[in-house]
Amino acid sequence: MKDLFAKCSEEGGYFSYFRMQRDRYFAMPILELPPGPHMVFQGKEMIQWVINDYLGLTVIPEIKEAAIEAANRWGVYSPMGARILSGNTEYHVKLEKMLAKHAGKEDAALFNYGYMGVQGTTHSLIGKDDVIVIDKLSHASMMDAAFATRRFIPFRHNDPHSLELALKRAQRLHDGGIMIMIEGVYGMTGDIANLPPIVDLKKKYGARIFMDDAHGHGTMGKGRGLGFHFGLQDEIDIYFGTFAKAYAAIGGFSAAPEPVCEYIQFNARSQVFAKSLPMVVVYTIIKTMEYLQAHPERYDKLWKNTHKLQNGLREAGFSLGKTQSPVTPVMVPADDFKTGMAFLHKMRDEKHILISGVMYPVVPKGVFLARMIPTAAHTDEDIDKTITAFKEARDEMGLRWGETIEKNGLHHAI
Ligand SMILES: Cc1ncc(COP(=O)(O)O)c(C=O)c1O
Repeated sequence: MKDLFAKCSEEGGYFSYFRMQRDRYFAMPILELPPGPHMVFQGKEMIQWVINDYLGLTVIPEIKEAAIEAANRWGVYSPMGARILSGNTEYHVKLEKMLAKHAGKEDAALFNYGYMGVQGTTHSLIGKDDVIVIDKLSHASMMDAAFATRRFIPFRHNDPHSLELALKRAQRLHDGGIMIMIEGVYGMTGDIANLPPIVDLKKKYGARIFMDDAHGHGTMGKGRGLGFHFGLQDEIDIYFGTFAKAYAAIGGFSAAPEPVCEYIQFNARSQVFAKSLPMVVVYTIIKTMEYLQAHPERYDKLWKNTHKLQNGLREAGFSLGKTQSPVTPVMVPADDFKTGMAFLHKMRDEKHILISGVMYPVVPKGVFLARMIPTAAHTDEDIDKTITAFKEARDEMGLRWGETIEKNGLHHAI
């Protein structure tokens, strides 16, 4: 027999590559607070493109003041207890109603984290006869939820033909309901769900759609999400969002018909058996939603900055794959991982531009992305400086990325 802890010194685990680095540079970098477009990393001020603060809310004083007011009134401990027993408040109910209205649904159910929300929603709804049909490029929280049910069939990313085959198989092998799990905006690659044919197929096979719109909520469809972007929100049976990105907070929600939300609230074990979302968060998100209603220009600014950044990078010859959202992945040739890392080093150390590298196991093997998140808080100057730095770093390193990517077909891979 082996000691349980032996593996902790012998192997790296799931994120072994990062763990083995232990460098605080790519693995667990420390960024000095507060969050904003300019942050201090390893003693140097950088223009950063690594936090999902799409609407730039981290720099809005009113929102910070709402959190301070809530902390003064209720501390960080309120409410005490699980929602089902002693952790419910009129504010929790009010926030659910606001989210439901915003998502065009009857009701909503709150969760403490997006990750917990995906588990709770999935596990409460998938019974012993039901089955999940899931897009292969879905976020780890969705894959984990599907794996845990042990009743799931994956389909090729955004491919209606592969989805139809999976639905046929699901009908053949299972007697219960079918839940199609997709993302709205795919968070690493920025491409969006191919919703019209997915909706046609859900109708044809009598399935339900669960759409995790973590990156689309606040950024697409005038802020109301990818369903509104396509005019198909009514066909999304469960609309899922997190507060950890465009709302610059923490928590998540499922929005759906009223009996479904009530069922989730009473059956989602990841939330039923956990203390409820703190008042500081609930109250601040209510104020955030009110603020955004009064300030639609945040959304317009996000898109203005997104277009400026993406057009500038494309004109400079960089390949951004199929993004149709603010998520901006600069594709690095699959066989040139080391050069990709050296490029990010140069950007940080010499140009003072902070960008994340995304690689396996977050994305499929052979894919390396320099992923950027533009926000409404970035300035024209931030964007111009960043594009110039990209061009300089590439030319100083003598790279020919655009051409290599076309040759490798990576462009079409995701
Ligand atoms: C698609 C998707 N779902 C769920 C989550 C988890 O959300 P949270 O950070 O609120 O737990 C994320 C976060 O990365 C995500 O991108």
